[in-house]
Amino acid sequence: MTRNLSPTTIMGPARVQRMVNIAVLISGNGSNLKALITAQQQGQLGVASITQVISNRFNAGGLRHAHAANIPAHLFNLSTFCSGQVNPETRKAYDAELAHTLNAFNPDLIVLAGWMHIFSPAFLSMVKAPLINLHPALPGQFAGAHGIEDAYAAWQAGNITHTGCMVHEVIEEIDAGKVIDTQIVPCLIGDSLEDLKQRMHTAEHQLIVRAVLTYLKQ
Ligand code: GRF
Repeated sequence: MTRNLSPTTIMGPARVQRMVNIAVLISGNGSNLKALITAQQQGQLGVASITQVISNRFNAGGLRHAHAANIPAHLFNLSTFCSGQVNPETRKAYDAELAHTLNAFNPDLIVLAGWMHIFSPAFLSMVKAPLINLHPALPGQFAGAHGIEDAYAAWQAGNITHTGCMVHEVIEEIDAGKVIDTQIVPCLIGDSLEDLKQRMHTAEHQLIVRAVLTYLKQ
């Protein structure tokens, strides 16, 4: 993917301030969205700000974080694009509309923070801003929707001693693409799956903020 960061320039009488608009896409609790919002509120994101949130699920808990922070939030659910089963035409229409909506926001960066919907190649060719994705596994390991569960099983089987999370550029291949940053998360003796999940989420909340800053500085 080619990067196309072109921050909006606001000209004032005394200074030129460059704003970087970020759209965040979520599907679930939105704890990673919350980490980004908190970082922004604490001034850690510099001139970058989250200007749009999109959820593909009606009941995504993360929407409440957007509302609480007065960030416009939109619902983009695939089932509303069809009256019965999802078929290639439905998917095509959804992709086109989502790409159109995102392009209309004109974000500088799109962050997938727990976005559980696989993009089609058609969508990726339509959307103009670069996309980065948070994945709860290290590069080359445990792609797919169950990264933490798969790592826990591998640890129990004695195949790994640690797992981790990564933020990477989005390409057609799932949970692959140029790695922006990673964080190792140890598996500890006596860990339940829930223990590992908690430790992973804590690591993700740190990583996502760091990776967004790293990406914007590149
Ligand atoms: C995270 O573990 C993310 O890596 C995975 O889904 C989870 C989303 O968590 N893909 P949240 O919605 O940000 O709380």
